[in-house]
Amino acid sequence: MTASRRPLIAGNWKMNGLSGDGLTLAAAVADYYKGKGAASFDMLICPPFTLLGAAGGAIEGSGVSLGAQDCHMAEKGAHTGDISIAMLADTGCSHVIVGHSERRTDHGETNEVVCAKAEATNAGGLIAVVCIGETEAERDAGKTLDVVKTQIAGSVPGGATAANTVVAYEPVWAIGTGRTPTSDEVQDVHAFIRSELAGKLGQDHADGIRLLYGGSMNPGNAKELLALADVDGGLIGGASLKPGDFGAIGDSC
Ligand code: 13P
Repeated sequence: MTASRRPLIAGNWKMNGLSGDGLTLAAAVADYYKGKGAASFDMLICPPFTLLGAAGGAIEGSGVSLGAQDCHMAEKGAHTGDISIAMLADTGCSHVIVGHSERRTDHGETNEVVCAKAEATNAGGLIAVVCIGETEAERDAGKTLDVVKTQIAGSVPGGATAANTVVAYEPVWAIGTGRTPTSDEVQDVHAFIRSELAGKLGQDHADGIRLLYGGSMNPGNAKELLALADVDGGLIGGASLKPGDFGAIGDSC
């Protein structure tokens, strides 16, 4: 973490949460964050689409932000089952996760699709959380930086700024596995991401954009990961479903 960038602790609930447990969780996160008073970090929850409206109500006035896990790039129209940015804004979302590896894998989303979704997010006045990260095979082949470089070139809009974009580095092999890269590896990849962003967007934007680490972040490893110079927060899956663990990660900031 670096003083000039305010940390962001973001929970990606993925396909979890019904009105009972989901709203209890949202209320617990709201209570935790309110209890921090003038917290020195931002907090975001990204529930499934079905809970956005109600979860937004549960966190209202707490300072916790609301995000979606995906969007469509078109403004509106004949896209059965899809959700537009205007709809997400209408439910109170300020952030949208785009290009999560589970979307890239399950739905064949390419860098071009992810970039179009990020651009639509920004055009609608919302903040895109653009996810990148290598698979285990790519890592084993020594291609981590090549993959990340290609994903940044293709997925991050040319108009990305610190105000409209967050980048999340999530090594695919670390998601939900309990495994993480070493702290040195995380810092090296994050520094590389920032240098690639500088080449694409200019140093000022690159210095301001928050880079989140995601992949098996938990209360046991958060402090060390969040202390790294180019790690400006976390994108948390499993541990974000447990209010105590999510709060403990916030406390690590
Ligand atoms: P886990 O924290 O469960 O590994 O998930 C990380 C993730 O994919 C967040 O988007």
